[in-house]
Amino acid sequence: MSDVERVAPARQLRGSLRVPGDKSTSHRALMISALAKGQSTITGLSPGEDVAATSVMLEHLGVTRVDEDGRVLVSGPDEGLRPSSLDLDCANSGTTMRLMSGVVSTIPGKHHLVGDESLSKRPMDRVATPLGLMGATVLGHGNSLTPPLTVESPAQLRALSYHVPVASAQVKSAVLFAGLAADGETSVKEDVRTRTTTEDMLQAAGVALTSRSVGEGREITVRPGRPLRHDWFVPGDPSQAAFFAVLGAIHRDATLEVLSLDASPERVGFVGVLQRMGADVRLVERGAIYALHARSSSLEATEVHAHEIPSVDEVPVLAVAAAAAFGVSAFRAMGELRHKESDRFAGSMVLAQNLGCRVWSEGDDFFIEGLASASNFLDFTSASTLDHRMVMASAVAGCAGRGCTIEGASTVSSSYPHFFRDLALLQ
Ligand code: S3P
Repeated sequence: MSDVERVAPARQLRGSLRVPGDKSTSHRALMISALAKGQSTITGLSPGEDVAATSVMLEHLGVTRVDEDGRVLVSGPDEGLRPSSLDLDCANSGTTMRLMSGVVSTIPGKHHLVGDESLSKRPMDRVATPLGLMGATVLGHGNSLTPPLTVESPAQLRALSYHVPVASAQVKSAVLFAGLAADGETSVKEDVRTRTTTEDMLQAAGVALTSRSVGEGREITVRPGRPLRHDWFVPGDPSQAAFFAVLGAIHRDATLEVLSLDASPERVGFVGVLQRMGADVRLVERGAIYALHARSSSLEATEVHAHEIPSVDEVPVLAVAAAAAFGVSAFRAMGELRHKESDRFAGSMVLAQNLGCRVWSEGDDFFIEGLASASNFLDFTSASTLDHRMVMASAVAGCAGRGCTIEGASTVSSSYPHFFRDLALLQ
């Protein structure tokens, strides 16, 4: 793919599509299979480069992977994972670096984790602190411990009771993975309910794990033990479906359907936000999985709070919806956006501004005065961000509005290599 992509406005959008397998589930399916003894299978693994980075890293640690008949066969070594003297390359993937910090903490020895230019700016102190309390030494640069990271893992990790200070499924998961090799029960408390992918999948693999509500949040307790082999099915990624939900809602002549999605409550908060804005967007149950339907709508401004969409991955594309709405939308408590693949707090504002909106911020809140319709968007050029979600949000705006030129477009490959092809197929 060229690194500069021109997105033309679409006259009409119709059709059904499948988005890639859920990125969060894919990373964990590989990691849990790697920790298990025997061969696991994974159907629907994400084809993105982030998940490929996790896979290659696990192979360096002793895992065997075979791709066969559309499935991935993963065998964890009988004797358990072993350290590697190679640099373990997490590429653009924060999930790989944070979760694998927990996984390598369970392998006595020294591990070097590196990342690309974007990942090398992201804070890793949030995982280093709890893993340090468990007995691993995690070293990085500066106060926030940016990569490259060195993780020195002890012969025996200590059990921990930890209150996660930020809403982060990645930090929760790193501690739970390390807890599998601790000397007693490890528990993690979160004040905001983040995605439960790790808990659900560890339980499915036979790990003794309990989860209970504590106020608005949860406490999860894991007992040490090795997961069992498992046959994993990865549903479609709801965070990728969000791009088509917004596209369908703001384009003037669209009827779109995204098939086969995970629709767990922590992942589909964006649907409620869009519905509140007046969007004709619905989740339709199809057995254990869901389809998402989206049709052209007139949108009104709304107020979005970070706790409605923990992990805030869908905010850049919701900023595009706000730009197409009538009135001023408020995005509240969005500080975490600054620590993603790029500074999405600034990036979401710049995107709306490029479309012609008035934007401003106050502390961790930002505001977008919408243009009442995507037909009023300006044609724009977005600068390279090394951030897949900023690229896709820009493409949605260009496709529904007056077109756009995206620099650094190949970054979509980190989660959705065929994004531009799928977008073209709907036209
Ligand atoms: C993820 C968690 C989120 C999200 C990321 C994937 C995961 O990060 O942004 O894309 O798989 O656990 P935080 O929960 O740490 O914010």
